[in-house]
Amino acid sequence: MSTLTFGIIKPDAVRAGNHGAIIQKISDAGFKIRGLKLIHQTQKQAEGFYAVHAERPFFGELTEFMSSGPCVVLALEKSDAVPAWRELMGATNPAEAAEGSLRKQFAASIGENAVHGSDSDENAAIEISYFFSKLELV
Ligand code: CMP
Repeated sequence: MSTLTFGIIKPDAVRAGNHGAIIQKISDAGFKIRGLKLIHQTQKQAEGFYAVHAERPFFGELTEFMSSGPCVVLALEKSDAVPAWRELMGATNPAEAAEGSLRKQFAASIGENAVHGSDSDENAAIEISYFFSKLELV
């Protein structure tokens, strides 16, 4: 069944000029782009987005990094979009990411790992609505 997921091309990948290549790979993999915009979050906005990680030791580092520059937020549609997008991204730690995945090609470390993706359909809906209004989704 065709479903939606949410993705972020993180500040490291945008800073390196890799966002165009990543969007091309997303299209080539058969995703329909339903929403896309460039944003620059405040640290407070990043803290809201990553609230489930608030108790983790890397929370400060994560939210500082995510607000360090522009990123591209995406609403993506595909058959079983959540697992399909996670497979295209590769493992969270790029050292463990599969050949051909985005993190293998574009990520430098577990903290600066080029892309984010939702881990469930429920969280995809929550994360899409955190960044997109209904009018911004086609
Ligand atoms: P993401 O999928 O965006 O969700 C939470 C993020 O926390 C994750 O990707 C990583 O970039 C980051 N993260 C996970 N573990 C660590 C860690 N040990 N140190 C720094 N950042 C981490």
